[in-house]
Amino acid sequence: MTESSVLSGRAFAKEVRRNLADEIAGIGGRPPGLAVIIVADDPASRVYVSMKEKACGKVGIDSTVVRLEETVSQAELLRVIDRLNTDPLIDGILCQLPLPGHISAAIVASAILPEKDVDGFHPENVGRLWRGEDGLFPCTPVGIIALMKHSGISMDGADAVIVGRSNIVGKPMAALLLRENATVSVAHSHTFDLEGLCRRADILIAAVGRPRFIKREFVKPGATVIDVGISRTDDGLAGDVDFDNVADISGAITPVPGGVGPLTIAFLLSNTVKAWKNSGVVS
Ligand code: GUN
Repeated sequence: MTESSVLSGRAFAKEVRRNLADEIAGIGGRPPGLAVIIVADDPASRVYVSMKEKACGKVGIDSTVVRLEETVSQAELLRVIDRLNTDPLIDGILCQLPLPGHISAAIVASAILPEKDVDGFHPENVGRLWRGEDGLFPCTPVGIIALMKHSGISMDGADAVIVGRSNIVGKPMAALLLRENATVSVAHSHTFDLEGLCRRADILIAAVGRPRFIKREFVKPGATVIDVGISRTDDGLAGDVDFDNVADISGAITPVPGGVGPLTIAFLLSNTVKAWKNSGVVS
């Protein structure tokens, strides 16, 4: 049996950020601009947004944070988006989720110009993703594909099982794995024999948000296991995978923290640079 390896998303993300910084400096001119909208004062969102700001600064992206009260109307939020859509210094717009109950995340996603939609949530980008066309695609799944390529993990013809069917991770992950010629199953809370399905996977992606949900019995020896979850538990941060009992039978596994998390931000920066290069400001 092959030796299992721990895939450091943190180290790869650092390399991606360094390459982006070099690319931005090499191109010169007006720097890329990213606007992050945060509605209400969710502590987790606040942490993510400050991490995004810091990461932008380090690679040479100008970031602007627009903070709105929890009581802001959807109409007012749409006006803010409209202003950013027409701002020539802004290449990327992201509205941090979750949003308060009176605001529709779907309407917000559709309001952001597709060419500034660095989250890849606009229906036009979703369509482009599934049709195999170029576009802006969700950062976490894009980062996972890049990490697997970088680590020499073969996706062509592989059986891939994704546990979780969210619009942010599960569904775009399925589309991107299909583009890499994997055979893809998307499992969820109604799936019969989840354990048996997972055990057939060469690539198992856990994105359910339930700490240590994926047990040793779910994993085929030698499989690549990608853990998208991060939950706070009584004994610290935990992923969706029972890492301590899974790591030695996997072929490769991402840790939590230091696995998928850093990729999300690195590929948000990458999407912003892509939008900047497509904006016409770069010749
Ligand atoms: N909240 C948690 N993950 C994400 C993400 O990828 N994008 C946005 N906009 N909000 C999030």
